Parts: sequence; structure tokens; C-alpha cells
Amino acid sequence: MRSFAGRDILSLKGFERNEFEHLFQIADELEPIARERRNVDLLSEKTLVTAFYQPSTRTRLAHEAAMHRLGGHVTGFSDAKMTRAGDFYQESIKDTVHMLEYYGDVLVMRHFQQGAPHEAAKWASIPVINAGDGWGEHPTQVLTDLYTIQSEMGSVDGKTIVCIGDHRMRTMHSIGYALSQFDAEMVILSPEEMSPLPEFLAELDEMGTSYRIVEHIDQVIAEADVIYMEPVVQPDYTASRQEKQDEYGLTPANYQITREVMKKAKGDSIVLHSLPRMDELLPEVDQLKHARYWQEAYNGVVMRMALLASVLGVME
Ligand code: CP
Repeated sequence: MRSFAGRDILSLKGFERNEFEHLFQIADELEPIARERRNVDLLSEKTLVTAFYQPSTRTRLAHEAAMHRLGGHVTGFSDAKMTRAGDFYQESIKDTVHMLEYYGDVLVMRHFQQGAPHEAAKWASIPVINAGDGWGEHPTQVLTDLYTIQSEMGSVDGKTIVCIGDHRMRTMHSIGYALSQFDAEMVILSPEEMSPLPEFLAELDEMGTSYRIVEHIDQVIAEADVIYMEPVVQPDYTASRQEKQDEYGLTPANYQITREVMKKAKGDSIVLHSLPRMDELLPEVDQLKHARYWQEAYNGVVMRMALLASVLGVME
């Protein structure tokens, strides 16, 4: 297995099965620290730098919480407009990264431009973690999601994973790549204008991800093990920020999970959603035994603990 120490985490394309398993194992080892709300000193010599050029609640704060749980330090920005990268100077990623690499030991970047963290990694002498790049990928979210499936259901193998929502979305790309390493089926369900791009499907074919495309949740709900959701009504992920509009669409029933829909689901199926949600996942589902998105959010801290400890070389 390739070492994680010093490694950039930019994509799940090319991630190997044993690397997923290794991170799941480290997450299991570190999980009691989060569960018992303890802070330890594993990363007391290390500093995380966050560079968020797009809004985030979970991804930035889960990385920061993970760093605090492991005794590390945090610096960075969550509003690029208040930096030289976002004002008059429009400082380049290259110049920005040449500064940030002096301020810490690992850089977590979210950006509205696909490939921006990859560009940062070219210039950084410290590991770069992609926290979401445009429509590109969201590797740490999907590592969290697969870890949640593994810990809730015992294995990712053998599962029918129904991926509902906007398939241009970065999580959908990362999970498609990741599932090439598991004996699981990806079922794709999205409005036509949010269909996966042909280039992405060609990549899935090449990588050996098993997938099929359906048109309505009713076609697959009875066989789903995991219902994996993204919004249908959502902002443009290639923009740095989009305010909520006065008028926006509603999610058609084909792509909506409700209490009624879940009556047709297997008893042991689970619903995951990386959040935030709109009306594709109604709050009435929160009370059902299937809901695992709060556990998924908690696992977001645990998985980032595993990732930070790994790329910083303190857990091998
Ligand atoms: N799931 C996710 O990426 O959430 P944030 O946009 O709040 O980070």
C-alpha cells in the first residue's frame, strides 16, 4: 500500500481498496476520542491551514474539529473576499500557496474552480486535501460516507447504492470512482439536465464501476441498501457564492425521499445525505430507523481525524 504520510488527497480516482480499508481501520481506532469528547496530543506539533473559497459548514468545521480533537492547531480563512486572493489583487493560487505552506503542515482547500486543489498541490511543499472543487470531486466526504456504510452495515460490498440527485455533483463523481474498488452497484437517478456526463460514465466503464440508470425512485426503492442523496435544487458549484433566490424550483417526486417512499424500502436500508438539504429529503424522515445522516455528519469528524493523522504521518 502507498504511504499516506505527506500525500495529497485530491481525488478518489486511483484510490485502492486496501487504502480505503486502511483509513476505515484508523478511523475505528480514533473514533473513541470523538465519542468520548476527548482531546489528545497526537498532532500537538502540527497546524492545519484551511483555505475555503466557497461556503462550507461541515467540511471546514469537521476538519477543524478533527484537528482540535487530536491536539493540533488551526489557522486559515473561510471568506476569500477578505484575503488578497479575493480582493483587488486576485492573488494566484500559486502565490497564495507559497504563503500558506509556511503557516502550517497540511492545507485543506475548497474552491469553486475544478482542479484548484490540484493546482495548489503542484506548488505546496505540504499535503493538500481537496475539500470540494467546483463540480469536480469531494473525496473526504465520500470517504466519510463509505466509512458510514461500512460501520453501519458491516461492509460496502454486496450493496445496492441508489445515488439520487444532481449527478454533476462532486460527491457523485467521487463515489462513482470509489465504488470501482468494491463489489457494489451504483444506481443513478437524476433529472435529465443533471445526468452524469458521458465522459464520467466512460470513466466508470473503464474503472469497472458497476452502475445502471433509472428514472424514478419507485423503480429501485425496494432493492436499495443505501439511499445516497444530493439536492436537486441547489446552487451553481462553479460560483464562489450564490445567494438564495426569491424563486426556486421544488424537487419532483421521482427524486424525493419521504416517509411514504420509505415504507417501500427494505427494513435495514439506510439513508445518507451529505447535507445541506432542500426538499429532496423531508424532515419527517429524520425520525425513521433508516436515517443515518446525523451519524454520517459525526463520522465526518472521525474520518477527518483519520485523514489528518495519516497524511501528517503519525498513524501508519
Ligand atoms: N457536505 C458538505 O460538503 O457540506 P458543507 O458544504 O457544509 O461543507
